[in-house]
Amino acid sequence: MEVGVIGAGTMGAGIAQIAAQSGHKVYLYDTNDSALERAMKGLQKVMSRLVEKGRVTEQEMKDILGRIQTCSDLSAMANAGIVIEAIIENIDVKKEVFQSLEAMVANDCILASNTSSLSIASIAASCENPARVVGIHFFNPAPLMPLVEIIPAVQTSAETLQQSRSLIGSWRKVTVVAKDTPGFIVNRVARPFYGEAIRIYEEGIADMATIDWAMKEIGGFRMGPFELMDYIGNDINYTVTETVWTAFYYDPRYKPSFTQKRMMEAGYLGRKTGRGYYSYAEGASMPEPDKNQKVGEAIVWRVLIMLINEAADALHLGIASREDIDLAMTMGVNYPKGLLKWADEKGIQEVLDGLDKLYLAYHEERYRASVLLRQKAAFKQLFYKD
Ligand SMILES: NC(=O)c1ccc[n+]([C@@H]2O[C@H](COP(=O)([O-])OP(=O)(O)OC[C@H]3O[C@@H](n4cnc5c(N)ncnc54)[C@H](O)[C@@H]3O)[C@@H](O)[C@H]2O)c1
Repeated sequence: MEVGVIGAGTMGAGIAQIAAQSGHKVYLYDTNDSALERAMKGLQKVMSRLVEKGRVTEQEMKDILGRIQTCSDLSAMANAGIVIEAIIENIDVKKEVFQSLEAMVANDCILASNTSSLSIASIAASCENPARVVGIHFFNPAPLMPLVEIIPAVQTSAETLQQSRSLIGSWRKVTVVAKDTPGFIVNRVARPFYGEAIRIYEEGIADMATIDWAMKEIGGFRMGPFELMDYIGNDINYTVTETVWTAFYYDPRYKPSFTQKRMMEAGYLGRKTGRGYYSYAEGASMPEPDKNQKVGEAIVWRVLIMLINEAADALHLGIASREDIDLAMTMGVNYPKGLLKWADEKGIQEVLDGLDKLYLAYHEERYRASVLLRQKAAFKQLFYKD
């Protein structure tokens, strides 16, 4: 089956690589010729590194790269079985591309968008046959991250959903199905990992190094929130937060913080600019955490119950199944445990009491507990027992 990829930026190049590695002939399209050139140079470099590491042979590299053909005309997609769009995050531009694309491809070609924040329903609405449109959300870097969220719009047919899920599964990705709502699963449920950590810092409960230490050493997370924000980029992380908050009609639970906004405005974007919450300048040393076990445990508990609350609410609102919510967070952002499973282990009543305590103290909507937690606690039920 031929695969079309629209947009040869960070994500498009990665998706083209995965598809070619899975044996497909790939047509990579971009309106910008230098983006296509850059993408092919980048792919050559990535593949050469894989050869050096012994992951692929020289011949396999040649075959894989030979299967990727750049093009500056959408008509190259005429025989594709699926086209995945990964262009700029702009609804009007995406709609235009989908419209032109639909006129070029076969009737049974699946049209997918890799959008992180736009509604799949609105993209699908630009097509004559919206039943063939689906969201296929890869994570960055696409070839390395195992998780892919599959997002059916209200218009998407069961067949499109099933075919796209099994195709992406055959590319050795872990797929989860998410409802077409802001942030899908990962970018919604993960918000408190950053937001609550920043809040704890803003209130002077602990400094960044201590919060990062606690989340890693006590919580078992691979990276601390501040380290991770510096890695992702404070501009990107802030924008995701702001987009999710706006898309949820300004639900205070997702309200962005001034701390991060100022980092972005100052150009302290993280590793990529040499300075973020921490300095990455040559010879700079990382600040020492205050390894106070009691403080550390309180930090982890507060962030964890906020994350569990998001996961519970996502389940309550049918965003995804309990298995997919847990899988998304362990595979998409490397959490040490699925949040709903974690809730069962910690005790749902305890989680609820923690949230209610915060709510009582702050009288802020961000601490309102999901009604599902309240129901589970009242009936002494677990997430994983039925
Ligand atoms: N970068 C991430 O971490 C990430 C993760 C998941 C999803 N996404 C989503 O993937 C998409 C692409 O993101 P990216 O980071 O790869 O962007 P990018 O800026 O690296 O690349 C976008 C590419 O699209 C091309 N382009 C723009 N308009 C076009 C058009 N009309 N037709 C064809 N090509 C066009 C640009 O020339 C550019 O090469 C966005 O929807 C984004 O939300 C990004």
